[in-house]
Amino acid sequence: MKFIRLSLLAVTTLAVAVPAVANAACDVTIGNRPVAADLERGRRAFLKCRACHTVKEGERNLVGPNLGKVLERAPAGAAGFNYSPAFQAARPRWNPTSLDNFLRAPSRAIPGNRMVFAGVAKAEERADIIAWVAKESGSPLRTCR
Ligand code: HEC
Repeated sequence: MKFIRLSLLAVTTLAVAVPAVANAACDVTIGNRPVAADLERGRRAFLKCRACHTVKEGERNLVGPNLGKVLERAPAGAAGFNYSPAFQAARPRWNPTSLDNFLRAPSRAIPGNRMVFAGVAKAEERADIIAWVAKESGSPLRTCR
């Protein structure tokens, strides 16, 4: 009995000592400024977006467009998504800087757009989301390690 308890203790200690997955960190360049981002935090922060967006390429559009390859594709380019006239006129090209500006205050960045979302106030959280979306959508940032 004593032996079993001891080995259980050993197993528990080992599990705590070795983290299951190492969090990847990235520098997201906003303007000319590198902002430290964390992919796991980004995954969790994206829960606010999930009701309206799928991320992996080829998944279906929900209330919002699928975000597959959003950093590389043509402006307003999610196949089969009916963008608002405001979005079609703005033809936003996404890179970390423009995405950061959009996510801070969507209605200010593209007035009249249909993304009903107040915005993400914290710069660090926006960087986390941008790094994670880039990776999941198929265009990972080269600054992740
Ligand atoms: C209530 C639904 C909703 C939520 C929540 C939401 N979005 Fe959106 N999003 C939209 C809609 C709708 C559009 C298209 C806007 C238009 O056509 O005017 C959009 C557009 C976008 C685009 C531009 C896509 C393209 O094809 O150019 C990105 C990027 C984006 N959203 C990211 C996010 C992120 C990241 C979050 C969470 C922080 C989020 N959205 C939260 C509905 C939503």
